[in-house]
Amino acid sequence: MKFKFFLSLAIVASVSGMNQRCFSQHLKYIKPQKELLNTIDQNLKDADNQYKLMAKQLADTGLFPKNYDPAKEKFNTSKSDWWCSGFYEGTLFDLYEQTHDPQLLTEANHMLTSMAKEQYNTHTHDLGFMMYTSFGNANRLEPKAEYKQILLNSARSLSTRFNPKVGCIKSWESKPSDFLVIIDNMMNLELLFWATHETGDSSFYKIAVTHANTTMKNHYRPDYSSYHVINYNPETGEVQQKKTAQGYANESAWARGQVWGLYGFTVMYRETHDKKYLEQAEHIARFILTNPNLPADKIPYWDFNDPAIPNTYRDASAGAIMASALLELCRYTNKTDGIAYFNIAQSIIKTLSSPQYKSAAGTNGGFLLKHSVGHFPAKTEIDVSISYADYYFVEAMKRYKGLSEP
Ligand code: GLY
Repeated sequence: MKFKFFLSLAIVASVSGMNQRCFSQHLKYIKPQKELLNTIDQNLKDADNQYKLMAKQLADTGLFPKNYDPAKEKFNTSKSDWWCSGFYEGTLFDLYEQTHDPQLLTEANHMLTSMAKEQYNTHTHDLGFMMYTSFGNANRLEPKAEYKQILLNSARSLSTRFNPKVGCIKSWESKPSDFLVIIDNMMNLELLFWATHETGDSSFYKIAVTHANTTMKNHYRPDYSSYHVINYNPETGEVQQKKTAQGYANESAWARGQVWGLYGFTVMYRETHDKKYLEQAEHIARFILTNPNLPADKIPYWDFNDPAIPNTYRDASAGAIMASALLELCRYTNKTDGIAYFNIAQSIIKTLSSPQYKSAAGTNGGFLLKHSVGHFPAKTEIDVSISYADYYFVEAMKRYKGLSEP
């Protein structure tokens, strides 16, 4: 009954799109700084140039930018089935929206043609990342029946990975007796909400809510830090293992996992208006923001529990995702927390805008940010520029600007 109430409330009250819903109000106590707004405008212009440089390197390969490794001076690319393939187009669309540079739009639209086939990919849980950042942004800027169909097919493909016994969408392929779900998967749910808004078919909505509820129950520790991977029994839904893949240790708090959860539960609240998700996001924020290992500039180390702290790597991507999530969460929470979240996000944007993190013009393969960590235990993508750091940094800057507009 409660579920049905929230479902109808959310469908009636929500509007389709990727931005904050109208139930959050313009908050008078949140005041973007003029100086930082100017810095952001400059960053967006610089990003426009950087991304044109990146486009030149890709030429007509049909490949997608993955990372730039400064140690090897190497620009690495991927095919469209890599989980990050949507971030390039998403960043281009977001930048185009800000700078109105037609070259960016042309490049984004060109790359969509290589992405479209992924709508039928049922071998990945990352379709939210891949298709909602690319086609979702394309459709947000210029709604088209073709984009909608692709997004809908993507949501259908993602839904095939849902196991009702477990109550989750499967993340990674594994042996048949395992069913692996990673915290990152919270980020794929936004696509399912879009599909319900678009079609009125509540099955997508129900999958998203069930996945989030199961994740809340099993991924989180009492201090609201998150495990990376939960291994379920696919027949009974019982938890078989709680572990890590990309973090320092099974019991550690891998930084990007914490911020995926923060962002994901903020979206859950936006989409359902169910207070338990708001509280979850606030608890996660508290874990991160009061963590003694969070540096003063708020760019997390790659894992909150790496014993080498402070002599280890920062993860700029975690900082960018956190800033973007907090700039949405600050609109939903109480005034005191809202101001605190806003101030932290502001400080992250300032830090990421400094030469310490922002690429000098013409460097780093055209990426905007330096110093992210992809997969430390696998010794891959350590201290590199990475596509999703740029995507969420640009989104955070857009959200910051949005808070200055009536
Ligand atoms: N698996 C997605 C990430 O590295 O955050």
